[in-house]
Amino acid sequence: MRISFSAPDGKISGAVAVAVLEGGQLSPSAQKLDEASGGALTRAIKHSSRFSGKKGQILEVLAPAGVKASRLLMSGVGKPSEFGELDQENAGGALFAQVAASGEDELVFLVDALEGATADAWRVAARMAFGALLRSYRFDKYRTKEKPEKKPSLKKLTVLVEKPAQAKSDFAELDAIAQGVFATRSVVSEPANVIYPESFVALAKPLEKLGVKIDVLGEKEMEKLGMGALLGVGQGSVRESKMLVMRWDGTRKPGKGKGKGKGKAAGGQPIAFVGKGVCFDTGGISIKPAAGMEDMKWDMGGAGVVLGLMQALATRKAKVNAVGICGLVENMPDGNAQRPGDIVTSMSGQTIEVLNTDAEGRLVLADVLWYVQKNFKPRAIVDLATLTGAIIVALGKVNAGLFANNDELAERLTAAGKSVGEPLWRMPLGEDYDRAIDSDAADMKNIGGRWGGSITAAQFLQRFIEEGTAWAHLDIAGVTWTDKDKPTVPKGASAFGVRLLDRLVAQHYEE
Ligand code: BES
Ligand code: MN
Ligand code: ZN
Repeated sequence: MRISFSAPDGKISGAVAVAVLEGGQLSPSAQKLDEASGGALTRAIKHSSRFSGKKGQILEVLAPAGVKASRLLMSGVGKPSEFGELDQENAGGALFAQVAASGEDELVFLVDALEGATADAWRVAARMAFGALLRSYRFDKYRTKEKPEKKPSLKKLTVLVEKPAQAKSDFAELDAIAQGVFATRSVVSEPANVIYPESFVALAKPLEKLGVKIDVLGEKEMEKLGMGALLGVGQGSVRESKMLVMRWDGTRKPGKGKGKGKGKAAGGQPIAFVGKGVCFDTGGISIKPAAGMEDMKWDMGGAGVVLGLMQALATRKAKVNAVGICGLVENMPDGNAQRPGDIVTSMSGQTIEVLNTDAEGRLVLADVLWYVQKNFKPRAIVDLATLTGAIIVALGKVNAGLFANNDELAERLTAAGKSVGEPLWRMPLGEDYDRAIDSDAADMKNIGGRWGGSITAAQFLQRFIEEGTAWAHLDIAGVTWTDKDKPTVPKGASAFGVRLLDRLVAQHYEE
């Protein structure tokens, strides 16, 4: 979808959206259109028994006389003082969805300065465009027979607002984030015959053009490092396991001498993002039931978020030193697959009794978490993983589970999640849970008992975090894929985590 910003000049066409406040009070632009159309808007509101201008409502008038627009959409904003960033995004997304498949090819947002508003109109305009853009994502590359009249018709979004140049520059940052979200959604949506460790890594290559440094470790290199936990998971697959390391350092400062860009990296300790990248999880020898197994193509959702996040940070040239690492494997049953009862030695030296080959994500993360600490001494680590079904039992598909050994990091993450609409709910850690993964045969086993499965999984990860390293683990099993359309998230891969971590970085880890 093409998006442009310009100053209102009275000329409009296509589908045109205007704001209506609580109680059905028309915004200035709505008022003008109402007058031009001989009262079409006020009449429509009067005859609708439901529309009152409440936040989230939309009322549509088709082909009103007296105006050039083919349809007018009234978007309820409620009280302007309570119409926040997320509401603005949601309004943009909902308006997009309303018109997307209507046959219209152009949508216009007429954004006014409203009395008592929380933000300048040009900021609202950028946010609404961001929401529409996020909602416009569609993974349809394999649909070759969809009838044209069923495809989204909307090609163009025009946002009319005072100070359009400011809206446009605000939007440039948001667009970088949206493109990162799309990169994540695309890789997570792809099936496992297309995305496997090697092809995943290939997707990261283009980030080099943005200034991201990419390193890829194959099985040989990981063997040398002693990453027996990660390698054990992938040993039943014909696809080679990989570890993808992406580094973005936007903290370069100008050198002392003449010439810009001469400075060296300010360096410092990076913030690290670690993603579970199980490109397909059959469960291995502890194989999963057939029903629903196809969902396990998105068991690389955490890695997908790390990829999209690094793209977003690099595209918007975030002034942060960040490293993103993905542990990429495929968990398959095979003559060479890992068996229940096998004991593997992790890179940390700790041994693990693998009692269930389906508890594989933690095995992958164990080695990646250790690697990131040894190589980067990060100031904080956030890992993301579709780690347990148990987190869905606990929190449903609304909140992701947050586990942390550091209250400040946990609070920062919770606040960032709340402000972007990707909510986190903190879960406990503790010694009493930790005992559940003690093993008689090795240093630990990879499953706890029946209860608190997400917590024992997190305890397992924590055994690979060194004392003093700030660490948080996001169990995103319930939120990585959505079965329902939401205002800014079409059903499918959500990219939950990209916006959250971009916000975390912007608020706390940029210079
Ligand atoms: N990838 C799954 C967790 C999962 C389940 C993600 C549903 C998304 C939706 C993970 O590898 C897994 O299989 N976990 C097991 C752990 C158990 C064997 C201790 C689970 O949750 O059942
Ligand atoms: Mn599994
Ligand atoms: Zn898994």
